Amino acid sequence: MTIRAVLAGTGHYLPSKILTNDDMSEFVETSDEWIIARTGIRQRHQAAEGELTSDLATHAAHEALADAGLTPDDIDLIVVATTTPDFTFPATATIVQKNLGMTHGAAFDLQAVCSGFIYGVNVVDAMIRSGAAKNVLLIGAETFTRILDFTDRTTCVLFGDGAGAVVLCAQDVSEDGQGVLASFIRSDGHHKDLLHVDGGPSSTGTVGHVRMIGNQVFKRAVTDIADAMRQCAAKVDMPIEDIDWFVPHQANQRILNGVAKKLKIDPDTVISTVAKHANTSAASVPLALHTAIMDGRIKRGDTVMLEAFGGGFTWGAALLRY
Ligand code: ACO
Repeated sequence: MTIRAVLAGTGHYLPSKILTNDDMSEFVETSDEWIIARTGIRQRHQAAEGELTSDLATHAAHEALADAGLTPDDIDLIVVATTTPDFTFPATATIVQKNLGMTHGAAFDLQAVCSGFIYGVNVVDAMIRSGAAKNVLLIGAETFTRILDFTDRTTCVLFGDGAGAVVLCAQDVSEDGQGVLASFIRSDGHHKDLLHVDGGPSSTGTVGHVRMIGNQVFKRAVTDIADAMRQCAAKVDMPIEDIDWFVPHQANQRILNGVAKKLKIDPDTVISTVAKHANTSAASVPLALHTAIMDGRIKRGDTVMLEAFGGGFTWGAALLRY
């Protein structure tokens, strides 16, 4: 028997306002045809004025707790992966902790941009295996549209708002039992100019906007994601072809297709929500995971590989048995 981080429940939240590609063409010179052909995106959700990242995260957390059959009293750690915190401080996770009525446990934010949820799985898994945490709420939540320049067509059409949450619980399981089996994270800080936000408390004293040289990021993303998936699977000697489902970061349908082709993965086993959610950064993987569990595709006992690539650059993968 071995202690593993077992996925006990999932939840999600998407703001009610939807911006279609035609809506985007009111801000910038673009078209539904261009956006669908180059990205697969058809629409994105946008948080209402006054609706904060912590609000999205709290909704998703309530749903994940209910799905796991737990209450906030059972949780001893909250980790929020986000690039768009409510405030520079306190951590958005502590605001979620307050919203859930918790006066116990610990909460912190994790910043790895679009790879934030994968980094979160890596950190939470290590904490659970070491005994440092028992029942953990891991949330990816973003109000990413707040850091978009709605006059820059090369970035503003790509992103949306949302939150996805999971409850990971320490459980003593057999070797072939449920839980996180392996994870792999990497970063390379030499490419800030290809993907960054041009503001921050220490540099400009402003929040700033997303800047990206998309086609250069694209090439790196396909190569590095495929490598991370191979390395992650190799940690537990699991051939990629034996994995039941793939839940990628939802940046671009062409990246999903490119990785699937490179690793000879059946496209029907790749979960895609990019058309409806667009790129919700740290929220995209848990949102896609929740979607595929709720619609019955991912079932208990299935093996699932999560992966992401994002600003930093950061990238990684995580393999679990649901
Ligand atoms: N509408 C119409 N035309 C556009 C738009 C738009 N919204 N955006 C760009 N174009 C134009 C460009 O100006 C360019 O025109 P030109 O040829 O006259 O110069 C042309 O379309 C082609 O531009 P490319 O950038 O080469 O297009 P590409 O096919 O690479 O698609 C995209 C761009 C969608 C951004 C793609 O490169 C991509 O998805 N990149 C990776 C994104 C990613 O994975 N990011 C990491 C995660 S995000 C994060 O961490 C925050």
